[in-house]
Amino acid sequence: MNVNSVGVIGAGTMGHGITQAFATSGYDVRMVDVSEDALKRGLAAIEKSLERMVSKDKLSAEDRDAALKRITTATGLDSLADCDLVVEAATERESLKLDIFRQLGETCRADAILASNTSSISLTRIAAATANPERVVGMHFFNPVAVMRLVEVVRALQTSEAVLEAVHEVAKQVGKSPVPVKDSPGFVVNRILVPMINEAVFAYAEGLASAEDIDTVMKLGANHPIGPLALADMIGLDVCLEVMKVLQDGLGDPKYRPAPLLQQMVDAGYLGRKSGQGFYSYN
Ligand code: 3HC
Repeated sequence: MNVNSVGVIGAGTMGHGITQAFATSGYDVRMVDVSEDALKRGLAAIEKSLERMVSKDKLSAEDRDAALKRITTATGLDSLADCDLVVEAATERESLKLDIFRQLGETCRADAILASNTSSISLTRIAAATANPERVVGMHFFNPVAVMRLVEVVRALQTSEAVLEAVHEVAKQVGKSPVPVKDSPGFVVNRILVPMINEAVFAYAEGLASAEDIDTVMKLGANHPIGPLALADMIGLDVCLEVMKVLQDGLGDPKYRPAPLLQQMVDAGYLGRKSGQGFYSYN
């Protein structure tokens, strides 16, 4: 299965990061979102990240320009009809993803690989909503995509061996280390990482220490590169809450109960870096 042209759905934090990873690895990428504004913001974020890489001598100015030239944008899913691989990184809502995959099943070639970057939704249910479900697979990237080396390759019950192999190769081509994982709520990383973040929110809400001190103890005491509350702000508090709910519903164990403060902060619109306010202020 040859992959040359790639489509990415979503120009948000993950979508623009994934677009950038493919473009810097020589793939032509079409980035799709619902509005021109969202696409503009995504492109600006890609330019900023590439600039950072040029300033650190990790990328030449020529390679940056070539990568930017490989990216085209569009607002409709029909523009992905010719892609060999589509990676969906839309908002983490099951009904939305099922709808997108239903449409992709009708729009894309029958042999196109349809991947989702979902952080926790069942790939098997997503595949079931799609024509030719054996070409549906999970490609779970990590934030910030430009830096994080892992791609969890998630196998739905329906995914074919050939598709798993092709996606494994593509992940390597974009400079990542693919690891195969089973389709289960939160897969592996989020099953372990997000409950740790949730516990940090409980600790903060109980007044065990300040946000800064909770982050400091985990950096100094457990050698984490960034504290759990700062990481929650980076991932997005809405995404963290959604993952906890999926773990709670999918695994049925009360230990996955979301911290009430996490829910409240999301209700208040405090989503972390992307909204300017989370456990820290970003204005
Ligand atoms: N684009 C390009 N380069 C970037 C970048 C970006 N967006 N962000 C960081 N970098 C580079 C910097 O240029 C720097 O390069 P250098 O080492 O050559 O100087 C390097 O990354 C380190 O960045 P900084 O010095 O600015 O800051 P830190 O040392 O604090 O590192 C970090 C930043 C890499 C984000 C680090 O804090 C980290 O690893 N944090 C943990 C990230 C993590 O756990 N991610 C997983 C989240 S879970 C997830 O995504 C799953 C989802 O489903 C929820």
